[in-house]
Amino acid sequence: MKVIAFYGSPRINGNSEILLNEALKPIEAEGHEIISFKLNTMNIKPCQNCGGCDKTGKCIINDDMSEIYKAIREGDRFILASPIFFFALSAQSKIMLDRCQAFWSEKYLLKKVIPEGKYGRKGLLLLVGGMKRDIGIKCSESTAKAFFRTISVPTHETLGYLGVDAKGDILEHPTALKEVYDGGKRLIEI
Ligand SMILES: Cc1cc2nc3c(=O)[nH]c(=O)nc-3n(C[C@H](O)[C@H](O)[C@H](O)COP(=O)(O)O)c2cc1C
Repeated sequence: MKVIAFYGSPRINGNSEILLNEALKPIEAEGHEIISFKLNTMNIKPCQNCGGCDKTGKCIINDDMSEIYKAIREGDRFILASPIFFFALSAQSKIMLDRCQAFWSEKYLLKKVIPEGKYGRKGLLLLVGGMKRDIGIKCSESTAKAFFRTISVPTHETLGYLGVDAKGDILEHPTALKEVYDGGKRLIEI
């Protein structure tokens, strides 16, 4: 199984990165192929709404998104880990998601769904927010749901943690690490 992991935080070893690494542990242990993208370090231009993908389903911008397009086509499982910024997904995550407008055009204008492999396609969304208000989880979940469905991932699970602010605070959370580890295990169930 090919597992595609998106690190959505600019903070190295931050809370969402810790969670994503924990979710990947059972996946690595089972020997699955993992392709990771640290979005903050990549050269990805925001969608220009140029309509260039309308008739082809292909984006005309040539940048690091090319490797992500390929991985999204070939992957079986997808994990997006993002901090909540201003009640929403991080900009790093959102820029990548918006560039999936090319898949939106392919799916909804050209009526072509990304073909699934023998394991089907499933997603996992990991969220961390410093505040205790769950509006950030709700907003981020809505956006991520649009992303997953656009890339022909019909189901996903969301695990979100609030009141986790300083770098590494998630390590003190009583249940988060175990829950995301188990979430990683569930993700690779067939
Ligand atoms: C620009 C910015 C905006 C933020 N906005 C929110 C917010 O709206 N809601 C929230 O719960 N936390 C917010 N936070 C706090 C982060 O979500 C929190 O620090 C989180 O633990 C960061 O995760 P990371 O270590 O993976 O980057 C914000 C932080 C930054 C830097």
